[in-house]
Amino acid sequence: FQSSDDEDDVYGGGWCADSEEKEHWFQLDAHREVEYTGVITQGRHSETNDDFVSSYFVAFSNDSRDWTVLHDGYAEWLFYGNVDKDTPVKAEFSHPVVARYIRILPQSWNGSLCLRLEVLACPLPNSYPNENDVTPNDDLDYRHHNYKEMRQMMKVINEECPNITRIYNIGKSSQGLKMYAMEISDNPGEHETGEPEFRYTAGLHGNEVLGRELLLLLMQFLCKEYNDDNPRVRRLVDGVRIHLVPSLNPDGYELAYEMGSEMGNWALGHWTEEGYDIFQNFPDLNSILWGAEDRGWVPRIVPNHHIPIPENFLNGSTKAIIAWMERTPFVLGANLQGGEKIVTYPFDMQRPPRASSMDGRGVRQNEGALRETADESMFRWLAMTYAHSHLTLTETYRSSCHTDDITGGQGIINHASWKPVVGSMNDFSYLHTNCFEISIFLGCDKFPHESELAQEWENNREALLAFIEQVHRGIKGVVRDTENNIIANATISVEGIRHDVKTASTGDYWRLLNPGEYRVTARAEGYSPQTRLCMVGYEAGATSCSFTLTKSNWARIRQIMAQSGRKPRVLPKTVVQSPVNAGADNKGPSTVPLTKRQWCARQYKQAVKRMRCMRTTTMATSTSTTTTTPLPTTTTQLITQTSDSWYDLWFGQDSPPTAVPDEAEIQESEPTQDYYLAYRIDDF
Ligand SMILES: *[C@@H]1O[C@H](CO)[C@@H](O)[C@H](O)[C@H]1NC(C)=O
Ligand SMILES: *[C@@H]1O[C@H](CO)[C@@H](O)[C@H](O)[C@H]1NC(C)=O
Ligand SMILES: *[C@@H]1O[C@H](CO)[C@@H](O)[C@H](O)[C@H]1NC(C)=O
Ligand SMILES: *[C@@H]1O[C@H](CO)[C@@H](O)[C@H](O)[C@H]1NC(C)=O
Ligand SMILES: *[C@@H]1O[C@H](CO)[C@@H](O)[C@H](O)[C@H]1NC(C)=O
Repeated sequence: FQSSDDEDDVYGGGWCADSEEKEHWFQLDAHREVEYTGVITQGRHSETNDDFVSSYFVAFSNDSRDWTVLHDGYAEWLFYGNVDKDTPVKAEFSHPVVARYIRILPQSWNGSLCLRLEVLACPLPNSYPNENDVTPNDDLDYRHHNYKEMRQMMKVINEECPNITRIYNIGKSSQGLKMYAMEISDNPGEHETGEPEFRYTAGLHGNEVLGRELLLLLMQFLCKEYNDDNPRVRRLVDGVRIHLVPSLNPDGYELAYEMGSEMGNWALGHWTEEGYDIFQNFPDLNSILWGAEDRGWVPRIVPNHHIPIPENFLNGSTKAIIAWMERTPFVLGANLQGGEKIVTYPFDMQRPPRASSMDGRGVRQNEGALRETADESMFRWLAMTYAHSHLTLTETYRSSCHTDDITGGQGIINHASWKPVVGSMNDFSYLHTNCFEISIFLGCDKFPHESELAQEWENNREALLAFIEQVHRGIKGVVRDTENNIIANATISVEGIRHDVKTASTGDYWRLLNPGEYRVTARAEGYSPQTRLCMVGYEAGATSCSFTLTKSNWARIRQIMAQSGRKPRVLPKTVVQSPVNAGADNKGPSTVPLTKRQWCARQYKQAVKRMRCMRTTTMATSTSTTTTTPLPTTTTQLITQTSDSWYDLWFGQDSPPTAVPDEAEIQESEPTQDYYLAYRIDDF
């Protein structure tokens, strides 16, 4: 039970006694006779208060009227409770007590009378099964696995399913433990063109252990069911390359595991050895994007996707995780966390409010829009898929971690509007790679007891599978040139969604989209862009939407030039031979009306002016391509000349047009200090 932000919420962070009452107790009804063996108490979870019970009696009853207080042989047994609000303290009875009800009778406390409690009890031998007892449907290993046991378990699965599994590791923790990954696919070890890649990660916080066990159970399940010819699992394994990483913070897990389910606490094992919270230790690319957006630099100067990582970002295991995220063309993923029962989607970082909304120029964007990604509706769908396929996640009226349900019964929420964080894995994944990633918080208890694992598997099984299946929603395809060569690193843009994706090194791409009709454009360096109309239906499976790009004119010219020993014979001779007229005045020669390009060519010896030429001409070029009118038919070639600009011929290819800032725009936006930027663009 977690603290509440509401000061007046007496139920926030624990059970608290009514201060009007004189007699206090906390009572639990097991609904049948059980053997009680002990209790574990903890203070109230609170940022501000130090509330805990320091001593108490324990009483038992079979009917809740006659109570027997536990004796230690001489007198009523006074148990010493907590000395702070966080550390759990266990009290074990000298012998098991058979009863239906148990009461805690607090005798002394610090602050207000509040506590959190865990009761240890066992069903009586020969008792009838309780409705809460689960008989698992799947014959799997429902136990907690420490590092060695996890490795062993993965090895066994690999031996049982050698044809569809492969174990590899992402890197090492500072204690030298490996971050193991299990790949499950019909062709493990290789990316197949057209087959999307999916990832589940868990254990980013070592003490949130349920995700780890669920992923180990999922591995077992997929392996078994594949061998048993379960058609759904066959389809999944044959159609997706699935990567399961049960423990991204193995050091932290070992700490929490040693304490165990009952005695572990909220913090132990949460961070890495060096003190990093892995989930929020990624580079903050949001600030770069938002700052550039406010200056009108997106997408021409700063891209709306694949934003580069700032230099000298070095953070132990995060670095290894980033390398893994970059290496594999993931399309969809989720990280499994704990301590909450909720699914969150990015952005995870809160966009700072614009100053301009207060200076009389009117509110340009509402609060909510400030944290939305360009793919808000897709992210909501993805989060919904998990939350609503889960057996209990949307039942927020029972077993919620808070007194109030912040999700309106939906089980999902935008992370930034709930608990904003900077540098989260989800934001980073969205802004630096193609992969859409969400966070799944599996439950209030970070370390559920082993006996609960079977039920948790039942709760999550369908959701885990259904979420993987979402990787097939949207469009996919391959980008090739006219000679059927694949084009890697091509950009795929969807009109109306300001977030592009790129083709993998194998030329294939996936774009997650909700059902609808989309105008999709493929662009690549040296090629003319192509736009197609692509439909996404409601049926399962991504729509195929491939592109064949033709070399742009200037790429062809360069090719011809290369073949003919770089003789610039395609250029009009007059321009090359008569640079005499290219004087200092900007008007150019009056006799022959030269085009802007020709005029620029004459300036080629004057470095400064040459730069100006480049910039202004780049602007002219890129503007002409971005403002194309709507296309009536499905497959249409857009304007021929884009990414390859004429000046490449003289100035080389080192500076792509997008890298050259437009002067006019910079001058316009820089003095406009209407938005507080905590960084400058040169910082990155
Ligand atoms: C409850 O009933 C059981 C017998 O069914 C008895 O052994 C036990 O002592 C009773 N407990 C209390 C607290 O009276
Ligand atoms: C007991 O509570 C008071 C406030 O009510 C607080 O100042 C004090 O630090 C608490 N004692 C301990 C040991 O936490
Ligand atoms: C693995 O694949 C081979 C060849 O397709 C097959 O003969 C073998 O039975 C498969 N092994 C398992 C465990 O499925
Ligand atoms: C880790 O990353 C943070 C930014 O998230 C950075 O400020 C810090 O210097 C990095 N630590 C190391 C050791 O590089
Ligand atoms: C991909 O294209 C971008 C420009 O769009 C370029 O900066 C980057 O170096 C390219 N990457 C590869 C691997 O070619």
